[in-house]
Amino acid sequence: MEKNSPTASTGKVRLANCLVTAALLFGSAASFAQAAAPAGAIADCTECHGSDGLGFKPGVPHINGQAEGLLGNMLNAFREGKRSTNVKTHRDIAAANVAPLAKHYAEQKAQRPKSATKPELVARGETLYQNRCADCHLDNGRDSDKEAPLMAAQDMTYLVAQTLAFKSGERKFPFLMDGAYKDLSDDDLTAIAHFFAAQDQVAPQTGRKRRR
Ligand code: HEC
Ligand code: HEC
Repeated sequence: MEKNSPTASTGKVRLANCLVTAALLFGSAASFAQAAAPAGAIADCTECHGSDGLGFKPGVPHINGQAEGLLGNMLNAFREGKRSTNVKTHRDIAAANVAPLAKHYAEQKAQRPKSATKPELVARGETLYQNRCADCHLDNGRDSDKEAPLMAAQDMTYLVAQTLAFKSGERKFPFLMDGAYKDLSDDDLTAIAHFFAAQDQVAPQTGRKRRR
């Protein structure tokens, strides 16, 4: 699917304009900061994640509909150097912008474009997912809470890279996830990534109540 269609980018520009207008209408910057991310802070992210949270190119994750608390944790991990990143903007996020940015992207309900997945890998990944990953990545990866991310319809290039990054040690395992990875090969893990990427992204569309 073509992600950067003119309609999609017009939508992004329109939203950015709305936010600027809203910022002006709401008056004082201090009171506005409680309600939404400053438009300037979101502008630092749109080049790659859009204002609607959809990644613009393979390898950039979709961050729309991700649970607010988890997004805040992710941004703090980047800022504090607990999660390595090549993106300078991630390291430079101002502490005061973490909560409003997390709120903004958690509220985005855009439909994630599906990556091309291989059916035989999706089938193999499903069995592995049920046995190894389903306890925490609930509902085929569609459930997002403050601990585990929304995985459904995530960008495949990003998913494969991150799935392998835990195995290689480039990214630190969260509590107990290392046990789930025991004896899985790179091919097994790639199949699980295909399975997650192939799922319909239901939760953010329906606005289903998330666990806290
Ligand atoms: C130059 C492109 C670029 C910019 C600008 C950028 N990001 Fe990212 N973002 C990425 C890439 C690539 C990743 C994948 C991990 C990595 O390489 O750090 C990522 C990962 C993330 C993640 C982790 C998602 C997950 O599922 O673990 C979050 C959250 C995020 N970005 C939020 C933001 C926010 C908020 C901003 C603006 C302040 C921003 N990013 C600016 C490219 C970018
Ligand atoms: C004990 C709970 C648990 C199990 C079991 C588990 N995970 Fe996770 N997983 C997590 C948590 C918590 C995070 C969030 C980590 C973070 O933010 O750094 C996570 C994050 C991830 C991410 C990063 C997603 C992103 O957007 O950055 C990938 C990929 C992943 N898990 C794959 C797997 C796979 C594959 C399995 C099964 C082999 C699995 N996990 C089993 C708890 C678990």
